[in-house]
Amino acid sequence: MTWISKCTGKSGFGASSTAEDVTRNVDGTGLTAIVTGATSGVCFETARVLALRRVRVVIPVINLETGKKVKERITKKIPNAKIDVMELDISSMESVRKFASEFCSKGLPLNILILNGGVMTPPFALVKDDQGLQFASNHIGNFLLTNLLVDTMKNSVTKCGREGRIVMLSSDIHKINDKKSNEAVYGPSKLATALHAQELTRRFIEEHVYVNVDCLHLGVIATNLARQGGFSAFLYGVYNRILKNVPQGAAATCYVAFNPQAKPVSGDYVADCNWNSAQDPELAKKAWEATLSKTNGNY
Ligand SMILES: NC(=O)c1ccc[n+]([C@@H]2O[C@H](COP(=O)([O-])OP(=O)(O)OC[C@H]3O[C@@H](n4cnc5c(N)ncnc54)[C@H](OP(=O)(O)O)[C@@H]3O)[C@@H](O)[C@H]2O)c1
Repeated sequence: MTWISKCTGKSGFGASSTAEDVTRNVDGTGLTAIVTGATSGVCFETARVLALRRVRVVIPVINLETGKKVKERITKKIPNAKIDVMELDISSMESVRKFASEFCSKGLPLNILILNGGVMTPPFALVKDDQGLQFASNHIGNFLLTNLLVDTMKNSVTKCGREGRIVMLSSDIHKINDKKSNEAVYGPSKLATALHAQELTRRFIEEHVYVNVDCLHLGVIATNLARQGGFSAFLYGVYNRILKNVPQGAAATCYVAFNPQAKPVSGDYVADCNWNSAQDPELAKKAWEATLSKTNGNY
């Protein structure tokens, strides 16, 4: 419960900072962000705050009706918010390809890509691509989506004259790397995310691409994700009072995605708006090749 202490790190922000705190006085006019998983929880707050700061926000959703309601929730409070809702099931490679192609055909820039959408320990299921639902949603879909949007991000750096930012949502649970059961796949899927951030960064540095990649731990926040994880309504209610709240949970994402003062060490792991280095370049390369082969070599 570090948020209670109000301690801050080198960034000047800490676990008790909110998404609005870390983006105050930053103007996002002219920027476009894709924020996946923004129908609820931390990701909804991230999309709302970026829209509040005048970023055009594209919200990919599984269900367009849900997306319409999300857009209404945001525009009710922020009437001039620029929100586009588009269909995407991140667990399906076919849907990822369709979404990427439709987004690219809109001719919008892409300055910020936030890969939030994910699941935690849902009942075991195989998706169409023959992958487990959890690994497909939390890693493979994000990997493919990023690769399909990379050229648009690179072009946007040149057109908009500012660096692009990719934020990937990992979790401290990535340290629990035991793939024996469905419940335990969440950790490896989040480790794969951290390795993805490292290898993508290495490639961007090699290719002189000005797109920063960060991988985050948000803290622990009582959202629908906790419910999926099997928390009872009682435990959920208790945790909701003692854990970081949703605006605090969205702070790190908004900070590294949007605050120009954030001096990210690309590829590193960020917790509570501060950077922690824990890199394994060799493992990151192997993980990249393995996922690339699953997505039929798209980069
Ligand atoms: N909450 C925490 O304590 C915590 C801690 C560390 C890391 N994280 C990570 O932070 C991210 C956000 O978590 P959260 O707590 O805000 O969870 P959440 O409230 O459950 O939100 C998850 C989002 O992902 C979307 N999603 C799930 N499957 C999808 C699919 N196949 N295609 C497209 N979208 C899909 C959901 O959409 P629908 O509502 O339409 O299903 C929802 O918008 C996740 O990546 C999570 O692993 C969370």
